[in-house]
Amino acid sequence: MENPVIIALDFENADKAKEFLSSFKGQSPYVKVGMELYYAEGPSFIKWLKERNFRIFLDLKLHDIPTTVHKAMKVLGSLNVDIVNVHAAGGTAMLKAAKEGLLAAGAYHTKLIAVTQLTSTTEKVLSDELLIKDTSLNDCVAHYAKLAKDSGLDGVVCSVQEANSIKKVCGYDFLTVTPGIRPQGADTHDQARIATPAEAARMGSDFMVIGRSITHSDQPVNTYKDILNEWRESYENNNRKTFA
Ligand code: C5P
Repeated sequence: MENPVIIALDFENADKAKEFLSSFKGQSPYVKVGMELYYAEGPSFIKWLKERNFRIFLDLKLHDIPTTVHKAMKVLGSLNVDIVNVHAAGGTAMLKAAKEGLLAAGAYHTKLIAVTQLTSTTEKVLSDELLIKDTSLNDCVAHYAKLAKDSGLDGVVCSVQEANSIKKVCGYDFLTVTPGIRPQGADTHDQARIATPAEAARMGSDFMVIGRSITHSDQPVNTYKDILNEWRESYENNNRKTFA
């Protein structure tokens, strides 16, 4: 069983991210670099992390015409990170172009995953703002996941609540990376579809992306360990029976 925690390094610059990581004293947890930090620091921070053996999810959520995404993915492929992503809403041609861009850079081991619906999106936003009215959020997410699978992608970003049905539609090996994780009683912030680490383990999440619960903690290393222990205990107790 792999360590399922990916820490979202949602910091404004590399100095702040490095200061946070220094509390992990030589350990290299799996980290996520998102738009804020990447736009501030660019590839040099990714190289810094790679030199220290961090595994990296580069969360830039590309969404553009297929040619542009192909070229951008070719550039990102050269960074040799572990996971990159695109919005499934870009459609099949864009999803395939993203994969081809990575392969053109020789990034065969870099996993490409698709964002289905943001975990801050509610049923109301889906129907009133995105005008997706005759489909539930769950069905919409499952449909996007199937598009991603059929386009050759390796998995999706989704909420914990959706992970199990996605595994049923796309297969057990299709990765489910789930943000919106909150330990019991923690602040939900702007996340609409949240779950605890124990629920994530029980409901088919392969990786939990966790930001503020760890980065805003007074004792981030202890919070990280507690989350990991809660996940492991639930994983072992449930033995992923949901997929039996
Ligand atoms: O602080 P928190 O744990 O809510 O951070 C979640 C992280 O996951 C953020 O970096 C956010 O951008 C990212 N994310 C998300 N929902 C998605 C995709 C990514 O919350 N659907």
